[in-house]
Amino acid sequence: MSRQGETRPRTLENVRAFWESEAAQIGGSPEVTIRDFYFRIHELHTLLPLVPRCARLLDAGCGTGFGTLLLAGRSHYTLGVDYSPTMVAWARRLLTDPAHRSRVSRALSPLWELPPAADGGIEFAEADVLTLSPAGPPFDVITAQRLLINLPTFEDQLAALRRLRSFAGDEGLLVLGETSLQGYARTDAYRARFGLPPLERYWHNLYVDEERLAEWPRAGWRVEVVLGFDTYALLSKVVYPAACGPQGCAFLSGANAAAMEIACLFRTRAAAGELGDERLLRLYLDRVGLYDRAAADALARWADRHARALPPWDGLGNQRLILARPCAVAAG
Ligand SMILES: C[S@@+](CC[C@H](N)C(=O)[O-])C[C@H]1O[C@@H](n2cnc3c(N)ncnc32)[C@H](O)[C@@H]1O
Repeated sequence: MSRQGETRPRTLENVRAFWESEAAQIGGSPEVTIRDFYFRIHELHTLLPLVPRCARLLDAGCGTGFGTLLLAGRSHYTLGVDYSPTMVAWARRLLTDPAHRSRVSRALSPLWELPPAADGGIEFAEADVLTLSPAGPPFDVITAQRLLINLPTFEDQLAALRRLRSFAGDEGLLVLGETSLQGYARTDAYRARFGLPPLERYWHNLYVDEERLAEWPRAGWRVEVVLGFDTYALLSKVVYPAACGPQGCAFLSGANAAAMEIACLFRTRAAAGELGDERLLRLYLDRVGLYDRAAADALARWADRHARALPPWDGLGNQRLILARPCAVAAG
């Protein structure tokens, strides 16, 4: 279900007010910073091994701090920053309130225990990434999940990247989880083949234009690799709604939990290629059956009709993981 509220002009002030209001209204919910929470678990499962063990890590736009705490396991010192004071207050509670941390760990973390809050190793601060100026030596790793899409223009996105570049060491690594324009278009076109409507767009988001990644050197970053999440998108955004009806789907559902589990094993179509589509769908519906019998029955009927003739689904999904390295700032 959408929680966009009333559509407003996409300005820095309105977007910031949106996040502050979300944190105030549902800061304790897994859905506060992303409706599709199971995707977020899948994303963290993919990105954590890509983050090298390091001395200093910055998590920009850290929200309520759940991801930051997991990332902190890779770093001696971790700083999470967010411009919403209420998001930061929730994040700090993870450090100071053991009952809250264990509640979050049980409710939000199906794959991992949250690590104990290290003494002094993790800090949260209220700051706007566009004006941020953290003290201390450069960061080895900078992470951000869906930060750029909350900046209203491409030039604002470049300004944020430029700011982050100024805090990165020359050997630094930028790991971004973002939603892409092209990913949306591809996924909508695939969904349409099964009679599904386009995915919901959010007024406060400017989706990353993959065709403009080549311009990021203007902000001092060169993109090294872009990873996708084909399998999660196929199962969660096509098979589940096509089988159960888009109105019968929920983000926090057994079907999405199962999609996350399967996608953690086979992230892309290439990875699932050894299995083949029919076996992949069989695996999925067996797994869904552990959570939701009715959904599994609907999926079985759908798979009988479609599993043998799925159109190719490489590159499906609106989410991307973007890894970039510092480079000389290019003119332009
Ligand atoms: C989609 S949420 C993601 C939060 C967290 N990274 C996660 O994955 O759950 C985006 C977050 O970025 C924060 N944010 C957006 N623009 C920001 C900015 N310019 N400076 C600091 N934080 C920002 C919002 O307050 C919100 O908490």
